[in-house]
Amino acid sequence: MITLGVETSCDETSCAVLEGRSKIRSNIISSSLFRHRPYGGVVPEIASRHSLEQIDFVFREALRQGGVLASDLDLVAVTRGPGLIGSLLVGISFAKALSFGLGIPLVGVNHLEAHLKSNFIGRAEPSGYIGLIISGGHTSITDHRRGRTLILGETVDDACGEAFDKVAKILGLGYPGGPVIERLAKQGDPTAFRFTKPRQENRFNLSFSGIKTAVLYLARKHRVTRTFQKNVSASFQAAVVSWLVDKAVDAARFKKVKCLVVGGGVSANGYLRESLLREAARYGLEVCFPPMALTGDNAAMIARAGLERHQKGKRDSLKLTGDPNLRLA
Ligand code: KG4
Ligand code: ZN
Repeated sequence: MITLGVETSCDETSCAVLEGRSKIRSNIISSSLFRHRPYGGVVPEIASRHSLEQIDFVFREALRQGGVLASDLDLVAVTRGPGLIGSLLVGISFAKALSFGLGIPLVGVNHLEAHLKSNFIGRAEPSGYIGLIISGGHTSITDHRRGRTLILGETVDDACGEAFDKVAKILGLGYPGGPVIERLAKQGDPTAFRFTKPRQENRFNLSFSGIKTAVLYLARKHRVTRTFQKNVSASFQAAVVSWLVDKAVDAARFKKVKCLVVGGGVSANGYLRESLLREAARYGLEVCFPPMALTGDNAAMIARAGLERHQKGKRDSLKLTGDPNLRLA
């Protein structure tokens, strides 16, 4: 079974060829990041126009590198949400045209679910686990068992990756913030600044807008030197990661599951990986992280999630459309 994945939910345009559930034959990603940098964040109109410009080339390149012809494709899977509506519609329209033209089934995929499924390309999916989705637009803790998903907690304000991006912007470090904060944090003192852990009524909810405001006030009070940038980066990263680790491990213990599955752009963070592995080991929990190449937005994870839906008998019609606010459950 050869699945074509199509992902255009935000600033990446990606097509992938997946053979079965485990062999990525190609995974082409064209980022429009360089076009958003001058604005310090993603500009939706620029993102959708970039996708429109790139999608045909990215598709052809995915076929070429994957060593397949369009006529070899058995299924097309496309992100239907959540995301930017203009960007989503580019991928969805392209996927619908392929489905109609090639006479192959079409499956719409939830982008967040796909971030977790990026762990299960060539690795078996456990029957029950706690999901931790940490991306630029979403942060959630979910309970997965017998194919059903239950949301245990979510951010009540900013997403986790968004907090990295906003703090980087305050510190004058550019966009996106995650990678540069991780790099600077290595040279900073994580105890230089203390941030208060937000209290939530729901024990699995998270909040990141308070720490962003705290950093803003710090930056107003201090001169923003390189040392200051390093110390804030280290202190901010240590705080955010400790909150994520505490809640995820608490959820696994509360739900009595033995496995944590992490997905989304922030799962690339090495400090988070080490901290979560260390804390999980104390309670005998296993942790799955996606391969580094699949932490950001990519079409291989969409193909993987779409194939599973297809194997469960799910199909979408040509009426499929984008849902910017699609929920996980
Ligand atoms: O999953 P993703 O590629 O896009 C969304 O679906 O939102 O996540 C992008 C987010 C950005 O906020 C970026 O700053 C963050 O992931 N990110 C990181 C790292 N690499 C990317 N955050 C922390 N540490 C990193 N190494
Ligand atoms: Zn994403």
